[in-house]
Amino acid sequence: MRAVQRVMESGNLSQYLGAWHPDFMGGAEVRRFEESWAEHFGIAHALAVNSATSGLYAAVGACGVGTGDEVIVSPYTMSASAIAPVVYGAVPVFADIDPESFCISAATIAPRLTPKTKAIIVVHIFGGPADMDAIMALARPRGIRVIEDCAQAPGALYAGRSVGSLGDLGVFSLNYHKHIHTGEGGVVTTNDAELAERVALIRNHAEAVVGAKGREDLADLIGFNYRLTELQAAIGTEQLKKLSGLVEERIKNVEFLASRLAGLPGLRPVVSDPSHKHVFYVHPIHFDAAAVGVSREQFVEAIKKELPSSHLREGVPLIGAGYVKPLYLQPFYQKRTHVAAFNSPKYTGQVDYTVGSCPVVERMHYEELITHEFMRPGMTQSDLEDVIRGFEKVSQNIKEITEGA
Ligand SMILES: Cc1ncc(COP(=O)(O)O)c(C=O)c1O
Repeated sequence: MRAVQRVMESGNLSQYLGAWHPDFMGGAEVRRFEESWAEHFGIAHALAVNSATSGLYAAVGACGVGTGDEVIVSPYTMSASAIAPVVYGAVPVFADIDPESFCISAATIAPRLTPKTKAIIVVHIFGGPADMDAIMALARPRGIRVIEDCAQAPGALYAGRSVGSLGDLGVFSLNYHKHIHTGEGGVVTTNDAELAERVALIRNHAEAVVGAKGREDLADLIGFNYRLTELQAAIGTEQLKKLSGLVEERIKNVEFLASRLAGLPGLRPVVSDPSHKHVFYVHPIHFDAAAVGVSREQFVEAIKKELPSSHLREGVPLIGAGYVKPLYLQPFYQKRTHVAAFNSPKYTGQVDYTVGSCPVVERMHYEELITHEFMRPGMTQSDLEDVIRGFEKVSQNIKEITEGA
């Protein structure tokens, strides 16, 4: 509140100028926020943007992706991670997910590589890191750029290293639902000065600036307005100070819930791999219908009925069967009417969006995965005990569910 008050009193709510000028990189709050972010995560460059969606678009643009190219993406993520290449006329190619991490992996990416593959967008889904060393070993020798979508994973570590520092670029979200937020917002990270410059240009009307900046060689860049305000940046600086504490609370809650839920038949809650750090934006549980004795949908519906309404946020239950429908099953991919990406004469590849093309994600989404958010910070020990009691009651009364069905 004090930070917001300070910015309000300064009267300077955004200092950006969309021209080559000292204010091209934003005002004092934006710069302070970017410095804090870079330092916190141990990454050379952090660029504030007005959403992770904008950040993904800027990152893909910075990699020089264009019509005729393919970009390998995950089918199990928020839609923007896969649509970012389409903004530049490229075709998203879906690799299947790993059944343990729910992320794409070197093993699933390798069969999707073609000479057209320009970039890979890896999503650290649910807050758990993808196997980055193996993915980088595949991408580097081929000159393929790797973008990490860290929207759900601020603070996650892969072998002790921050996500967002392992690929060529990282993208974080600061929307209202994330671990920390500025209402809307995002950050792009990179250790590469040239990519940082390209992201900064795309963020702020690149084509109007490159001439005056003396970078006429960057004539291919188109710019947008992806600028974060001074108010949001001031909030971001304060929020960042709270990130570690909020993450630790999530981890502690998950450890408690997982230790108790693992004792119930047919449930296998995900726990953090000790060599990495999962930050649990969402807590996944593997569900074995044969061992439980009831369908996953029936089980989840029964849990919703057991748990009191205080566990619902904005009317949305904090538990669900699966996550988002595998993206390639959306009408956008099924119909492929988008002109620049799918119908350009420059695109000579063949992309497969048929049902069954990524069998693991389909099995997880339609049969084996439960996702919940009962570990959100603010849950008390008594709330967590309620959750356990709800799961236990449902597990002990499976017969009643099947008879009632
Ligand atoms: C994995 C992932 N990527 C990208 C985004 C987009 O974030 P934003 O809402 O900041 O644009 C989200 C938001 O939910 C997300 O979960």
